[in-house]
Amino acid sequence: MSRAPTIDELLRTGAAGLAGRSDSPGLDARLLLGKVLGCDRAALAARPERTVSATDAAAFRALLAERRAGVPVAYLTGVREFWSLPFAVSPAVLVPRPETELLVATVLERLPADAPCAVLDLGTGSGVIAIAIAKERPRSRVTATDVSAEALAIARSNAASIGVDRVRWRRGSWFDAVPGERFDWIASNPPYVAATDPALAALAAEPREALTPGDRGLEAIERIVADAPRHLHPAGGLAVEHGADQDRAVATLFAARGFEGVRCVRDHAGLPRVTLGTISDIQRGLGP
Ligand SMILES: C[S@@+](CC[C@H](N)C(=O)[O-])C[C@H]1O[C@@H](n2cnc3c(N)ncnc32)[C@H](O)[C@@H]1O
Repeated sequence: MSRAPTIDELLRTGAAGLAGRSDSPGLDARLLLGKVLGCDRAALAARPERTVSATDAAAFRALLAERRAGVPVAYLTGVREFWSLPFAVSPAVLVPRPETELLVATVLERLPADAPCAVLDLGTGSGVIAIAIAKERPRSRVTATDVSAEALAIARSNAASIGVDRVRWRRGSWFDAVPGERFDWIASNPPYVAATDPALAALAAEPREALTPGDRGLEAIERIVADAPRHLHPAGGLAVEHGADQDRAVATLFAARGFEGVRCVRDHAGLPRVTLGTISDIQRGLGP
């Protein structure tokens, strides 16, 4: 009978098996073994010589096989950290991306630290944007929407487990979920990948309606920018996340709809990922 493998051996072979299939094979292997053993990465690192039972080793290998097949680690562990908070995720929601923290930071910089403000998160998914903002701004009144009932259920549950109880959850397509309501800031990370983009193939495990709004990739942002002025208070603002090659098109949409001070914020890699602007009083009620 062969001897039981150690944590170190499983991590080495696991990472080697993920090479070429993952951008972070070592980290993925640690997260998956931690999931099986019910411990964090520090505990794995503290006792690399510890042996692992045949049952646990088999469970780890099964997770590795799913990861090799393209399932995101977050779906396999059931959790993803965002804004240093633990969010439960399932295949019903997009796996939150680090780029979206830039959107949260951009909006937070413009919200009062200690005064009431109304914020809307359109297309909330697992709830990351709404919950991070509500947590950082205790006097904010945050509303979060999604067209997906499953996503809203996950977002609600995340808010409860993180201890945020001031978010209102509304189901509906974009602004249909908040008829007649106005906000100080609207934030959205909408679907923006063109349906024809070959990159979608690598994202097949995630919900298609969370990734792509149509052939051009801009359809959801067009809708949101067109309708936002009717849902903003005087001097209110809109901030949207978009693809790194969509900044000019999005800025043109903002300007055409009367937004002022339109600018794009770049991520750590220098890529333009968030466009924002504010609306003057006169523009708020205009438009078809
Ligand atoms: C790119 S995901 C963003 C999820 C989350 N905000 C995040 O940053 O991780 C886009 C979200 O928009 C939602 N969505 C797609 N079409 C929508 C629509 N017409 N109205 C409202 N939400 C929509 C999807 O269900 C999905 O949760």
